[in-house]
Amino acid sequence: MEAATLLQLWALAALALGGTWTTLGGTQTTLPDHRISLETGTIFVHELERELFQAAFLSESEEEDGAVPITFRAQLRSHPDLPRWLRCAQRGPHRSAFLYGSATAAELGTHVIEVLASNRLTYETASQRLIISITPSPEGDPPYQAEFLVGNRDVEELLPAAAREQFVQALSDIWEHDELRIINITSALHRGGRVPLPIEGRKEGVYVSVGSHAAFSPCLLDASSEQSRFRCRLGQQPLASCYDTFTPQFVIRWCNLTLLRVLPTPTAPGPVWGPGVLEGSGDFQPPTESPPQDLLPSFLVTLLVPLAVAAVLCVVLGHLMCCRREGVAKRDLETSDIQLVHHSSIHGDTAELRSMARSRDVPRPLSTLPMFNVRTGQRTNPITHPMGGPPDGARDPLIPQQR
Ligand SMILES: *[C@@H]1O[C@H](CO)[C@@H](O)[C@H](O)[C@H]1NC(C)=O
Ligand SMILES: *[C@@H]1O[C@H](CO)[C@@H](O)[C@H](O)[C@H]1NC(C)=O
Repeated sequence: MEAATLLQLWALAALALGGTWTTLGGTQTTLPDHRISLETGTIFVHELERELFQAAFLSESEEEDGAVPITFRAQLRSHPDLPRWLRCAQRGPHRSAFLYGSATAAELGTHVIEVLASNRLTYETASQRLIISITPSPEGDPPYQAEFLVGNRDVEELLPAAAREQFVQALSDIWEHDELRIINITSALHRGGRVPLPIEGRKEGVYVSVGSHAAFSPCLLDASSEQSRFRCRLGQQPLASCYDTFTPQFVIRWCNLTLLRVLPTPTAPGPVWGPGVLEGSGDFQPPTESPPQDLLPSFLVTLLVPLAVAAVLCVVLGHLMCCRREGVAKRDLETSDIQLVHHSSIHGDTAELRSMARSRDVPRPLSTLPMFNVRTGQRTNPITHPMGGPPDGARDPLIPQQR
């Protein structure tokens, strides 16, 4: 009794839930495609702006402050996750999300990323396709690369263009050069770091790779020298021969500095363009979907023309066979009387001879009889009585030969 009541309640609850689900959501809006071009060897950051997606939701937000909780999900088209080089970071449903990563030569080509934004209040979703074309960097990899660990930042705090600009500004004083390029930004969590305690001011830490064509400054070389490494192992700060211009915005963990000297790889000679190659004009833009064609006329022609020909042939054949038929009467009319008399007299004479032969009582000629044995005179029908004679009755002579 108890179990039955429970089951009933459960079914009712499920029905009610299903009802609210259908009234609340299931609507999906699609934003227009967004095309992005990027080069290899440079950090790529794309902010998924909450406002853009919030405007796409049909229902207005009911909250007083107008902030709808939105969660973003991104994936490579027809794949369950993002490609290896791309990451999606969103701190909470009230923050924007960032797609970021650094493409290598292995990722050249076009990647179609599908972004799905879900409204956590109304279950509405909005989707957008990002079409990312990756082209090789014309300069190649910068020969001098350095990796810094920024201790007081989370990854999405360093991703906005302003923060990156600020970082490069601060670094250019230490590197003593202006042309610096951020190659890669990674959260320390993805490199074996630990999730910080939920205490104000504790951050994950971010690895920032910077490349340049200018040699490392003495200051950077000092910070990664053997002596500095030794001091780090003892738990002390490395030797600093210059003023740390990063402070106070960025706290650099100098012990985790890595300097990398990338030797230019001898690139294989590229393909030689022969004639007939069109002038390159940026990325290839595939044509949009072909317009639907009207196939009805060709269908009708294919179907109706053979049908019409067949019908005409039928009519002609029917006319020939039914209406143009020449009967016996017409033939008799066209034959001369003397021929008809001649013909019928032959018929009559033959019939008379036959009837006379039937009434005559004489043995039939041997050749008209079934097989018979020459020596014994025994008659056998080779078909119905095969025994007694040679098995192949067809070899028996029809007319007996005298010996
Ligand atoms: C960027 O950093 C991530 C994580 O450390 C790494 O997997 C990736 O290969 C790096 N990309 C480039 C282009 O160096
Ligand atoms: C920084 O480098 C030290 C060794 O020098 C290492 O023990 C530590 O794990 C590194 N920190 C991070 C966040 O990787």
